[in-house]
Amino acid sequence: MSKKTIAVVFGGVSSEHDVSKVSAETVIKNLNPEKYTILPVYITKDGAWKLYEGPIEAINGGHWDQYAPTCVISPDREHKGLLRIVGDKLKVIPVDLVYLVLHGANGEDGTIQGLLELAGLPYIGCGVLSSAVSMNKAYTKIVVEKLGIAQAPYTIAYKYQIEKDVNEVMDTVEKACKYPVFVKPACAGSSVGISKAHNRDELVDALWLACEHDKTIVIEQGITGRELECAVLGNTPDIEASTVGEILAADEFYSYDAKYNNAESKTVLPADIPEKKREEIRAAAIEIFKALDGMGLSRVDFFLEKKTNKVIFNEINTLPGFTPISMYPMLFEHAGYSTEELVDKIVELGLKRYEN
Ligand SMILES: Nc1ncnc2c1ncn2[C@@H]1O[C@H](COP(=O)(O)OP(=O)(O)O)[C@@H](O)[C@H]1O
Ligand SMILES: [Mg+2]
Repeated sequence: MSKKTIAVVFGGVSSEHDVSKVSAETVIKNLNPEKYTILPVYITKDGAWKLYEGPIEAINGGHWDQYAPTCVISPDREHKGLLRIVGDKLKVIPVDLVYLVLHGANGEDGTIQGLLELAGLPYIGCGVLSSAVSMNKAYTKIVVEKLGIAQAPYTIAYKYQIEKDVNEVMDTVEKACKYPVFVKPACAGSSVGISKAHNRDELVDALWLACEHDKTIVIEQGITGRELECAVLGNTPDIEASTVGEILAADEFYSYDAKYNNAESKTVLPADIPEKKREEIRAAAIEIFKALDGMGLSRVDFFLEKKTNKVIFNEINTLPGFTPISMYPMLFEHAGYSTEELVDKIVELGLKRYEN
């Protein structure tokens, strides 16, 4: 088999830029160099696309992006692949697959997936629709509701309503949910813009904060219980689920700080819950991924409510973190996949999707 060329796209303009860089390091290190030629494409925080042409081992040293050539993906299929641009010189570098390691807005939300569809380039992970719906917590809820899988009581508010009459919005929230509530920008990621409000005073601040990040805000009743995550791998309808892991957040909730800066946050796998509950979560994760027409990979997150022992869906991440402390690779490691085998499988699934 001839070597495939894979463009690994990472960084990006979202608030999860730095996480993406760490994830990309794991992915690049684990793509087998004997099978693949790797072309790292870094999107800066300002949205400039840069091709890294140095040795893979040195990718994290220095500020190479300042000197790296511009490199973009064109939707023009006559120039299919990466376009390396220096001055007025343009070179087309053919690519077999784009490995997306972008988290959040513009990476996980269907936008770059749309560009790749136009370009006719195979890529890993979910397509346009499943990425877009999964990124938006308000729309994911509608799909999951149809499946009859439990979710926290919630309501949706729009920025224009908050600006018009924040008290009316808060009345609606208080009718739908009991305190404490979680206020989330619909397209949040890594907990950015999310806060927990224990009363009306905190709710008003939480709503305004969320408005800085999105025009659609989801307000949910807080669930007291355990936080559980399940990884899925496959192209709908052939999906396998990992074991279930538990998050023990060091903060009052799993905030950005608790996720990335607090060594006290822990993950336990498999989660110490009855096997029957683990099975229920695995089945729900697969069902949700399928309903969203999921492709490649996703991590599906739940709560196990203390009072009722009920499994409650929280959210789905279509391009979950791949950092050394990320749950997705750890969950599949437990299932017997090394990270190298895992990225290999993700590549295979990406290519397979384009075979028919
Ligand atoms: N309804 C809820 N009840 C209890 N905790 C919640 C609830 N919603 C969110 N959280 C807490 O906030 C964290 C971030 O929320 P989440 O919806 O997962 O957003 P993100 O997409 O940013 O990860 C969760 O990991 C959890 O700790
Ligand atoms: Mg989350």
